[in-house]
Amino acid sequence: MAMIETHDLKKVYNGFVALKGINLNIEAQDIYGFIGPNGAGKTTTIRILSTLLEPTGGQALVDGMDVMKSPYEIKKIVGYMPDSFGVYDGMRLREYLDFFGAAYKIPSKKRKSIIDDVLQLTDLTPRADDYVSAFSRGMKQRCCLAKTLIHDPKVLLLDEPASGLDPRARIEIRELLKTLRDMGKTILISSHILSELGDMCNKVAIIERGELLAAGGFREILAGVRQTREIRVEVLDGADEAATILANSPGIVNVDRSGNEFQMESTLGSAELTQLLRTLIERGVHVLFFSEEKGTLEDVFLSVTQGGL
Ligand SMILES: Nc1ncnc2c1ncn2[C@@H]1O[C@H](COP(=O)(O)OP(=O)(O)O)[C@@H](O)[C@H]1O
Ligand SMILES: [Mg+2]
Repeated sequence: MAMIETHDLKKVYNGFVALKGINLNIEAQDIYGFIGPNGAGKTTTIRILSTLLEPTGGQALVDGMDVMKSPYEIKKIVGYMPDSFGVYDGMRLREYLDFFGAAYKIPSKKRKSIIDDVLQLTDLTPRADDYVSAFSRGMKQRCCLAKTLIHDPKVLLLDEPASGLDPRARIEIRELLKTLRDMGKTILISSHILSELGDMCNKVAIIERGELLAAGGFREILAGVRQTREIRVEVLDGADEAATILANSPGIVNVDRSGNEFQMESTLGSAELTQLLRTLIERGVHVLFFSEEKGTLEDVFLSVTQGGL
């Protein structure tokens, strides 16, 4: 069952249509990237899913519950990290987390150990007694994520958590998200910067002007827009023979050879590809790799959009 589902989700602000009917399907333990330029409707969608904003039409379900019917139940299982957060002058990190723990009505006796766990998870233990206002942007983002985790939500809705971070801080966020996914959480993460999300998520939705241009796994999206699959073959021995076989295989085009490596496009089905691999091996080629290029987020984005981010 999907952990997050929207059906023809619409939002109109005073006559301005911000969401034109969005269909999302996010499975448990996805790290799902939500990409689009500023004004596309990312924050609107995320705020609806976190029950802070009501949709104008359509339906949004979180863990099978409707945002309109079960907002309190949804709030308990959702951790929402807004795209901007206030500065808490004069608050030490531990106090800051304790404040939010209290807001989630976690009994004070339990709070200390929960806060210790969250500090550990986000690698903030050594900074627990420092003032939040003095932290760098990357550190503040991590504090905000720590705060979002305090009630152990199974769904994380993170609005532009990586914006303005240096590469190192971004890698740290990425590793943390993988850890959280491995703990069983489902993560929706938005960005208006393509390169921020490329190696973070397993699926994406690309949104522009309130409309989804594409959604799903990279390979799935690319397969929908491309007529061909991109195949990579690397051989240890027999490269010339391999070149001959590939050149004479119907359904294999644009073979690009670089030494023992071949890059090509294929219109073959999966069964035919296994036959091609068998032919290579039977004719004495020592095949080291035979794989489909998964495609990068850049490939996905370029193939479904005209404009740039
Ligand atoms: N409270 C609001 N009132 C009127 N228009 C809004 C409001 N919030 C957002 N919008 C508009 O809705 C569109 C989508 O905004 P938003 O969801 O914030 O996009 P994103 O997060 O992708 O940048 C934008 O054109 C924005 O100006
Ligand atoms: Mg936004």
